[in-house]
Amino acid sequence: MRFDILTLFPGFFDGPVRESIIGRAVANGIIEVKTWNIRDWAPGKHKTTDDAPYGGGPGMVMKVEPIALALEALSNATDAARPVVILPTPQGKPFTHAQAQQLASCERIIFICGRYEGFDERIRGLADAEYSIGDYVLTGGEIPALAMMDAVSRFVPGVLGEPESAHDESFTDGLLEYPHYTRPEDYKGMRVPEVLISGNHGRIALWRREQRIIRTLERRPELLAAAELTPEERRLVERLKGN
Ligand SMILES: C[S@@+](CC[C@H](N)C(=O)[O-])C[C@H]1O[C@@H](n2cnc3c(N)ncnc32)[C@H](O)[C@@H]1O
Repeated sequence: MRFDILTLFPGFFDGPVRESIIGRAVANGIIEVKTWNIRDWAPGKHKTTDDAPYGGGPGMVMKVEPIALALEALSNATDAARPVVILPTPQGKPFTHAQAQQLASCERIIFICGRYEGFDERIRGLADAEYSIGDYVLTGGEIPALAMMDAVSRFVPGVLGEPESAHDESFTDGLLEYPHYTRPEDYKGMRVPEVLISGNHGRIALWRREQRIIRTLERRPELLAAAELTPEERRLVERLKGN
């Protein structure tokens, strides 16, 4: 899978693309990450990529031409399938686990990283989807692009090794993950739940499933409506709610 990132700050990606799981996936050729400086497509001597907003007001707005030219060049650059173009923006649809999983089947994704006050509205027409990574405003689209690329990459076969696998993690089947413990068994009087040291794998699996339901109810109750629960688990939820 290939990611192309259009940004005014290509250096932003140097570390994240080299380190840890993503770095290993890049080194093994499972994913490819290319960063491009939008300025390289800015016409004129000054290579301007932003301008003052029509109608006045504070801040600068990213110009449409450099981004349109960059997209044209990148789309024609290879014979691979047409890329999916994503615009990170606080006004986009909330980016979720399900979208990350779905996007992992694409051959190519292009992210357009905004800066300043944001984009000329006509840039929205060049994108296939607009996503937000949360209800807050960051200084640029680089962190959202990185966050989305990371989340998508985890679903690309071979990126996660077996021990890191996405099995039973938060949001798979609509539930949060169960609590984890490692050595020591007793830390300042806080003991590891007895079931986890019982060696009884059936009991451990049941406990973990129940913990996922309890956690979700406590922390993100709105997820339970769409979670994949058995009738017995639905009854457990009702009991926990005191119904
Ligand atoms: C300072 S922000 C612009 C915010 C814009 N003026 C607004 O109020 O919606 C600059 C860029 O950062 C990116 N960005 C900031 N917060 C984001 C978020 N929560 N999710 C996705 N992208 C975000 C977008 O690319 C945006 O164009």
